[in-house]
Amino acid sequence: MDTLVERKAIIGGMSQPHRHDSGHKHVAGSADYIDDLIEPAGTLHAYLGLSTIAHGEIVTLDLDAVRAAPGVVGVLTADDIPGERDISPSHKNDEPVFAAREVTFSGQPLFVVLGETREAARRAARLAKVTYRELPPVLDVAAARLAGDALVTPGLTLERGDVVAGLADAPRRVAGSITIGGQEHFYLEGQIALAIPGEDRDMVVHSSAQHPDEVQRMVARVLGVADNAVTIIVRRMGGGFGGKESQSNLFACIVAIAARTFKRAVKLRPDRDDDIKMTGKRHDFVVDYDVGFDDAGRIEAVDAVFAARCGHSADLSRGVTDRALTHSDNAYFYPAVRVRSLPLRTNTVSNTAFRGYGGPQGMLACERWIEDIAYALGKDPLEIRKANFYGEAERNVTPYHQTITDNILERLVGELEASADYARRRAEILAFNEKSPILKRGIALIPLKFGISFTMLALNQAGALVHVYRDGSVHLNHGGTEMGQGLHTKIAQVVADVFQIDLEHVKVSATATDKVPNASSTAASSGSDLNGMAAENAAQQIRDRLIAFAAEKYGVAAGAVLFEPNAVVVGDKRFSWAQFAEQAYLGRVQLSAAGFYKTPGISWNRDAGRGKPFLYFAYGASCSEVTVDTLTGEYMVDRVDILHDVGRSLNPAIDIGQIEGGFIQGMGWLTTEELWWDAKGQLRTHAPSTYKIPVVSDVPRIFNVRLAEWSENRAPTIGRSKAVGEPPFMLALSVFEALGMAAASVADYRIAPRMDAPATPERVLLTIERLKRLARGS
Ligand code: MTE
Ligand code: MOS
Repeated sequence: MDTLVERKAIIGGMSQPHRHDSGHKHVAGSADYIDDLIEPAGTLHAYLGLSTIAHGEIVTLDLDAVRAAPGVVGVLTADDIPGERDISPSHKNDEPVFAAREVTFSGQPLFVVLGETREAARRAARLAKVTYRELPPVLDVAAARLAGDALVTPGLTLERGDVVAGLADAPRRVAGSITIGGQEHFYLEGQIALAIPGEDRDMVVHSSAQHPDEVQRMVARVLGVADNAVTIIVRRMGGGFGGKESQSNLFACIVAIAARTFKRAVKLRPDRDDDIKMTGKRHDFVVDYDVGFDDAGRIEAVDAVFAARCGHSADLSRGVTDRALTHSDNAYFYPAVRVRSLPLRTNTVSNTAFRGYGGPQGMLACERWIEDIAYALGKDPLEIRKANFYGEAERNVTPYHQTITDNILERLVGELEASADYARRRAEILAFNEKSPILKRGIALIPLKFGISFTMLALNQAGALVHVYRDGSVHLNHGGTEMGQGLHTKIAQVVADVFQIDLEHVKVSATATDKVPNASSTAASSGSDLNGMAAENAAQQIRDRLIAFAAEKYGVAAGAVLFEPNAVVVGDKRFSWAQFAEQAYLGRVQLSAAGFYKTPGISWNRDAGRGKPFLYFAYGASCSEVTVDTLTGEYMVDRVDILHDVGRSLNPAIDIGQIEGGFIQGMGWLTTEELWWDAKGQLRTHAPSTYKIPVVSDVPRIFNVRLAEWSENRAPTIGRSKAVGEPPFMLALSVFEALGMAAASVADYRIAPRMDAPATPERVLLTIERLKRLARGS
């Protein structure tokens, strides 16, 4: 009996805190990334030549010196692309592989050099002589608005109730504007692709990509071949964070074109600086708002415009700006609301997906007006939050007309408030600030609600492939990609659970477009929801066949075939899992199955701004405390408490890792990470020397992360779990607001701090100085 209990603890199954299947390999350096693969003989190395102006026409492109440089095998431009020259992931023809005549951002690829070595190609790429006829660039939101609001994709409006009357009738009103900065993904492994040409017109590309299916279609498009001639392989990424959803297409396409042309394998890995200059980032926003509320701080109406810098092409800006709007309510009910997006075209790199996909920007704007209301009324912002929480039976309809049926805000926030000892600490901090002239502290507790599902309906599907071999070992392949988030471990647990075997018997192989076709991007946090269900479906099919086989062979009822830990019991007989697999093979049972899943019951009408775009919501709450030096603006995050909802966790160890990592990444976005373009549109923060991501020493000194263990998904997801990849990112909003409180203390909390993001020490200091001036009335 004891041994059985022990075995159950190590069984592969769901909800066990298994370590990441490659964690030890990541730290030991034995995990294969693309640059670690053994290069085929004769591999060429590619390097890109980039534009140095933001907007203009190429007058001359003289590549003679590039071609003549030592070690150079050839140079390719737009004219050398055998198929289409465009790789826009959305519908429009607005994303050229190489700029041919018009240059639309600084850092845009103009040509590729192929060298015998990477160094030869890299040096040669600098020898191009390009002359331009420069045109005035439109660089940011303000300039794009002045220039007439040119959009990359039509904006969205979400509207419910009568916002004009709601604002007019509200007892109190606040209007304002917040500027929200963007963010560089800073994945540890940069963009990279290796193409290997095959017979006929076949092409295999190893690509560091979240969306291999799209890479496949893009490579086929530029080569002018059918999709079935192209195979994309992704073993793992050294981080993606949304930066490898569409942004990897370019690199894969270029190596494929070169590999076709020179009939040799081709690898491309840009330097970090070039990677940062060339690839899209989180969208920065300017949000203008007008909010009506009552004397208790209850919101009556919200009217807001979300203007985003999308860059030179549409890319994924529609989905990103849509999600900003669908999250501009965060956890709060708006009786009347109208929110609109302006996805603006600018002469900057094309902004793209980044953890939260516009949601963080929407929620930060929302928390800004909550904060404004609190300061206007002289109340604790948490009190305003609670007064506006979505209700469970009423006050439960979102701006996009979806009714919320899984609200756990009150319990979740109540528990965190108690465990973080919020009320006592806030009182203590207020007392401290009164006595402390230079150091000021702040505390904030913020809830979070994040909708799960792709707004593009077709993407909510997944496939998986499961093989059981004669020795009982299992091979699993699914459409999701591994980028460090532990997806492969979780999906392997699902399959191990179906067969009741140890996790080590399940091997997950590299994501490959010829194994599972038409797979969606691993994005929108949906990886385990979608692929977990597809893998379970595949494994279940095999399990059903095994049961039917055993029942017939041993003449027992199907109910007498039991899967026990690493064993199968058939009536009064007991076989090891491996023995049983061998018997099934001899009995000619098909031991392989393809699984499929599509998310049920979701709908979205973008034109009407209505539907049920989300299958469910993930909830969370965080409480952060900071100390600010009001003479320098420098600060420390002293303590963070998080209570987060992942439903019934598939793997608590991995989920907690995702929460910690997401929080710290969100904190980086809101504090130290600042993108800065100069007046000519050159990105000046393109290296760690000028762009500061959080490091180990930035982790809060006290960092309590807990899962809401009582929660289970009311929607029928895999094991009743909830997605975890993106939502925790937004927990970092509490750091931002705690900094605001510390700053507001210099004006006795009578004036809303109204800080823009990121709250760099410089901006915190400027905010403090501004608040001091305002308090003096000068
Ligand atoms: N975690 C790690 N370690 N590396 C990453 O690149 N990407 C995030 C999140 N967590 C990422 C990560 C993003 S943007 C998403 S959408 C999800 O993981 C995608 O994976 P999932 O759907 O399996 O959660
Ligand atoms: Mo995540 S931004 O959806 O890749």
